[in-house]
Amino acid sequence: MRTVVYPGSFDPCTNGHIDIISRASRLFDRVIVAVLINNSKSPLFTAGERVEMLKTAVADYSNVEVFSFDGLLVDFMKAVKADIIIKGIRAVSDFEYEFQQALINKELNNEVETVFITTRAENMYLSSSVVKHICSLGGDISTFVPPEICDVIVERIRKEDVK
Ligand code: PNS
Repeated sequence: MRTVVYPGSFDPCTNGHIDIISRASRLFDRVIVAVLINNSKSPLFTAGERVEMLKTAVADYSNVEVFSFDGLLVDFMKAVKADIIIKGIRAVSDFEYEFQQALINKELNNEVETVFITTRAENMYLSSSVVKHICSLGGDISTFVPPEICDVIVERIRKEDVK
């Protein structure tokens, strides 16, 4: 039974995240999506909201669970008995940051491996920040985020008048 952890801010989750989750769920027995609670990026959505949105979006995947976590990722992984971190990688620009994180996590716990799944070409430009930016300027984000959570995201971003 191989449990993997897909960590991130998911502020909010996009179709790019769901694609990585879907592909990881075919490769591994159990996928835990781990939402970072306290983030230096000051998330727009609360951890509870991000978890709920993800749970709605992955409801059809029977081997995917969603949790929030705080503190070190390697400590959370120990608690859920997982030794593989899944990361999606979009372009060369992601690589340096992801490479550094993979090395740090390996340094913190030598048992942990990071496995990268490359994005689909159509999601290469997609990010949570792009979704928030476009939505706040009145653009249509329906092709960027899961349909079940699109209205919640739009309502929240427009209400907060995020720029
Ligand atoms: O979606 P993000 O914001 O790129 O995700 C970053 C995340 C949550 C994977 C990373 O910030 C993280 O693992 N934070 C937990 C703290 C930690 O373990 N830091 C040491 C590894 S850099």
